[in-house]
Amino acid sequence: MYLVTGATGNVGSEVVSALAAAGAPVRALVRRPDAELPDGAEAAVGDLNSPDGLTDALTGVEGVFLLSGYENMPGMLAQARDAGVRRIVLLSGGSAALADLDNAVSRYMTLSERAVRESGLDWTFLRPRAFMSNALRWLPQLRAGDTVRAQFPHVAAACIDPADIAAVAALALAGGHEGLVHELTGPVAIRPAEQVEVLASVLGRDLRFVGLSDDETRAELAAAMPREYVEAFWSFYVDGTLDEATVYPTVGEVTGRPARSFAQWVEAHADAFR
Ligand SMILES: NC(=O)c1ccc[n+]([C@@H]2O[C@H](COP(=O)([O-])OP(=O)(O)OC[C@H]3O[C@@H](n4cnc5c(N)ncnc54)[C@H](OP(=O)(O)O)[C@@H]3O)[C@@H](O)[C@H]2O)c1
Repeated sequence: MYLVTGATGNVGSEVVSALAAAGAPVRALVRRPDAELPDGAEAAVGDLNSPDGLTDALTGVEGVFLLSGYENMPGMLAQARDAGVRRIVLLSGGSAALADLDNAVSRYMTLSERAVRESGLDWTFLRPRAFMSNALRWLPQLRAGDTVRAQFPHVAAACIDPADIAAVAALALAGGHEGLVHELTGPVAIRPAEQVEVLASVLGRDLRFVGLSDDETRAELAAAMPREYVEAFWSFYVDGTLDEATVYPTVGEVTGRPARSFAQWVEAHADAFR
């Protein structure tokens, strides 16, 4: 049995689907009992911030697909070990490599990886760069009109389809990836303006791109998240501390098929944009 956390999210839902499609027994950790799950997946209700409540979810589980950054990662991992779990596949991120404890994002990735390393369980770390699904942030603008105003317009990112992260995760959960750190990207680095061009082409819409200035970007971020996260993203994308542009061959090497393009991701999610 595999336990998938974040099972209603962009990556976790794809991990559940990938495991269920492969006929693997899969349990989805959800906070709401009425959460929608793919056929073949059973639900377990629990909260990652309350490891004491995860006993039932962890019973009989061999491997856990685990999100980073929850309040008591060592406690959660101790629960897993005590329940007989053998393997953790951790969804981390590229900023874990910076090990910058003064940066709120790098900090939670770094500390989560550290907790897993120290847990005594077998582990695999997935360090994806920006997700293609981040483009869903533009949905309100796309519903309201034909102009997309984007933050950090100068940043080229080798963004990745969450389904590709999930494909690697599903294979790692089955074993054979112990002690590996998988750097995960899509096939090419693209800027937000190029993403909007792809959206226009696939959706058949005449879209206009507007890159936000640094001041406008900062104002938008400040309205959406705590200050320490604003500073974290500023450091990554304005100071340039995080390399989002390098393309890694890992998805192809692990899955045996090429990483999906942004156009393929948009085609697969076109209904969400209509
Ligand atoms: N976006 C990026 O570019 C990027 C890049 C690298 C790494 N990452 C990492 O990837 C993670 C997952 O991204 P995503 O896009 O798949 O996330 P998402 O779509 O926002 O989904 C988050 C998932 O976590 C669940 N969750 C939240 N708090 C929880 C809690 N206390 N206990 C149990 N489950 C909880 C949510 O469940 P509910 O349905 O109950 O809310 C949901 O299933 C991010 O959090 C980040 O750490 C993201």
